[in-house]
Amino acid sequence: SKVVLAYSGGLDTSVIAKWLEDTYHCEVVTFTADLGQGEEVEPARAKAEALGIREIYIEDLREEFVRDYVFPMFRANTIYEGEYLLGTSIARPLIAKRLVEIASETGADAISHGATGKGNDQVRFELGAYALKPGIQVIAPWREWDLNSREKLLAYCDRHGIAVERKKGKSPYSMDANLLHISYEGGILEDPWAEPEEDMWRWSVSPEAAPDTPSYLELTYRSGDIVAIDGNDMTPAEVLAYLNKVGGEHGVGRTDIVENRYVGMKARGCYETPGGTIMLKAHRAIESITLDREVAHLKDELMPRYAKLIYNGYWWSPERRMLQQMIDESQVNVSGRVRIKLYKGNITVVGRESEQSLFDESIATFEDDAGAYDQADAAGFIKLNALRLRIAAGKGRNLLD
Ligand code: ARG
Ligand code: SIN
Repeated sequence: SKVVLAYSGGLDTSVIAKWLEDTYHCEVVTFTADLGQGEEVEPARAKAEALGIREIYIEDLREEFVRDYVFPMFRANTIYEGEYLLGTSIARPLIAKRLVEIASETGADAISHGATGKGNDQVRFELGAYALKPGIQVIAPWREWDLNSREKLLAYCDRHGIAVERKKGKSPYSMDANLLHISYEGGILEDPWAEPEEDMWRWSVSPEAAPDTPSYLELTYRSGDIVAIDGNDMTPAEVLAYLNKVGGEHGVGRTDIVENRYVGMKARGCYETPGGTIMLKAHRAIESITLDREVAHLKDELMPRYAKLIYNGYWWSPERRMLQQMIDESQVNVSGRVRIKLYKGNITVVGRESEQSLFDESIATFEDDAGAYDQADAAGFIKLNALRLRIAAGKGRNLLD
């Protein structure tokens, strides 16, 4: 039998590769993806070879990740529990898809991953895999073995001759990074009262340390997606990388939250999402002039459902597809330009314009509108809307106590 393993090249997944061979007597295929985590993926090849792996997949998925997962999600202004921009959640469906595709290509009957039995990631990988390849087997070593500490993992490496770099100053956090965010969990963060030390943050300066002069950016939107910055055309991955850089320099996009995991527990996490935080704000600004009011409000009502689907691992579900088609349809006229100012952790929208704008200055003006809007009409509008309120009041329904 054969297993495709989501392989980072780190300690945990290197132990998993060996453990799978020893426990299941199977051949292991490794899959390592560049999702913009900011670390080279090519070294994973030599590490896999050193483990005796014969089939090694290393892929640059940055453009696909942003174009087909991140951008579609941002069209809905998606945010989980009012705070979390879903940086890890949105990467899992793509990894799940590639795992089962590689399983088909290599004739493997199972997939494996390094997520623990306590988290969301196991759910996301496995729901995705089952949805796309119903007969696939899943092996989740963290739910089976007893190597539940770094010491035990290192001892396992010694016993099995696995070479690992014993980095001093290894981060005390469980981290996950891709083009959308970097996350930190565990360590001192397990006390929700404890403030993380400043040097935990890797992608952004603190707002206090940010420059005293703001930066302005002009973002060009086409059908809900950013296609150019300051007049320069960019691919989706280039857009996000650029916004991460400029946003990070201005201290934009840090959050420190306690969230509800799908498996039932509350977990504390810190996140840096500079580009995503900018995109969320700017997208609302372009929608503010291009979307019909009821379309905008309906999207907003459905958004928390859509966010929960993604958080809980249901990207590859019929209900997510249905919502996505509705969201995408809403974006046909969401084109134009937004000007923003970044300053000490803040994003301020300072301008918006569109050929598809529904904003009509001649109607909105406080000055003489030359007959575009008859103020006398408003009296009847208000009176009819008040009708049921007046009837109830007339029948003695008292709202004051
Ligand atoms: N709590 C976040 C989520 O559920 C981040 C998970 C980070 N995953 C990791 N393997 N470190 O999406
Ligand atoms: C893990 O448990 O593997 C990471 C955290 C999560 O999946 O929520």
